[in-house]
Amino acid sequence: MSRVEVLPSPAALAARAAEEIARLVAAALAEQESFTLALAGGSTPAACYRQLATRPLAEQIAWDRLHIFFGDERAVPPEHPDSNFRMATETLLAHVPLSADRVHRMEAEQADRDRAAREYERLLRTHLVAGGKAPDDAPRFDLILLGIGTDGHTASIFPGTEQQAAGPELVMPIFKEEDGSWRLTMTLPVLCAARAVIFLASGAGKSEVVRQILAGSDAAPRLPAARIRPVQGELLFLLDQDAAALLEQPR
Ligand code: 6PG
Repeated sequence: MSRVEVLPSPAALAARAAEEIARLVAAALAEQESFTLALAGGSTPAACYRQLATRPLAEQIAWDRLHIFFGDERAVPPEHPDSNFRMATETLLAHVPLSADRVHRMEAEQADRDRAAREYERLLRTHLVAGGKAPDDAPRFDLILLGIGTDGHTASIFPGTEQQAAGPELVMPIFKEEDGSWRLTMTLPVLCAARAVIFLASGAGKSEVVRQILAGSDAAPRLPAARIRPVQGELLFLLDQDAAALLEQPR
């Protein structure tokens, strides 16, 4: 079951996303010891991360009970401008009381990408428990944040790589044809095992792909972002008005 919320602006989208993340964290930590969160990369989440690092939310979240992971990473060092880890550090991780042993960077710059993928998979299996009807017995995140590319990719699962990313691996190297770059990405079994997935999409450039994904168009099943359907979890699309511009208006 997916829910869609449309916010009036990118700033409102960022605030709503941060508020929802804080709400999910608080609800889960009322029942369990820790909370596992996988961050999205790209540019859209940056404003949301800044909100999480700002009062009041920064003071409401029990950072010392979170484990932070990354849904994907570019094959660049952590200080590189393209690094998702760098973006998350600059907007969030450097500004909240999170010990380094709770931030699990995806070392996609390693020359042996397969080894790096196996190392990250081991981390997932160490810190997360499998459970429920998760596909391939995949470990279950409490929350995974995802963006949507204009081609329908999510994390680093690009159109044409869906079979590769279908499991049983939980993390794998993926080659991005468009720019000839390598990435590491979590795969569909992990993304679909989460207790909650929140997609963030902003801007008119995403309106057509959002329409395809949400309208269930015949193109949708092929799009990677349309394949993220948590087996036993919540799915929320948080969009700003521009990204939602082509959605059928409720009558
Ligand atoms: C990445 C992300 C990727 C991103 C989308 C949207 O590493 O780039 O994992 O899936 O979420 O490409 O990116 P924008 O938010 O920059 O539009």
